Amino acid sequence: MTGSNDTVTIAPQVSGEERLQTESRARGVARILVSERRIQDEIAAMAAELDAEYGDDQPLMVGVLTGAVAFMADLMKAMTIPLQIDFMAISSYGAATKSSGVVRILKDLNEEIEGRRLIVVEDIVDSGLTLQYLLEMLKARQPKDIRVVALLKKDKPDAFDVQVDRVGFHIPDEFVIGYGLDYAGQYRNLPYVAVLDPSVYTS
Ligand code: PRP
Repeated sequence: MTGSNDTVTIAPQVSGEERLQTESRARGVARILVSERRIQDEIAAMAAELDAEYGDDQPLMVGVLTGAVAFMADLMKAMTIPLQIDFMAISSYGAATKSSGVVRILKDLNEEIEGRRLIVVEDIVDSGLTLQYLLEMLKARQPKDIRVVALLKKDKPDAFDVQVDRVGFHIPDEFVIGYGLDYAGQYRNLPYVAVLDPSVYTS
């Protein structure tokens, strides 16, 4: 029973967005660059375009491990056409924040790709080195055609001029994490793309 002498404590109004920002900062996030909602909306649009482009051609989606896992999983589930998936693992970074310029294959495809229609799925095009290397190698195996879909592309004037057919978001040249992207193996499970707080890698 509520009497006139009762003290009613009203909790401070904290919005979901504010709570998210607070929690994220505590985890080393400087700021959220692309929200979960914007990512999912963009993926829905991309999926519709790919459905229309490929129809019954049964494309092979080639995901570039490890970073593309989140994007690839959401993109393929948003598509409604018959398709197959495969993965390659290529490393260019190590644990540093800048590309070392070194590319090596850690895992090759399981599928034969001659005559197939490929959709290469990348989480981010940074220097373009990984993609340039990958496309050269894939083209040598004579697929019917290759389309490159990247969730993120950094605005970087000195990047390799590499084929990217569809970009979700053009982003500034900052160290980004989340939605598949890591720093030293961490942060891949964030549902959004964020800028890493520089204190994380300078301390
Ligand atoms: C990242 C990202 C891209 C590549 C882009 O992969 O996933 O594949 O770098 O950089 P680039 O355009 O400068 O080549 P990374 O080598 O860090 O491996 P990961 O996906 O396992 O994190």
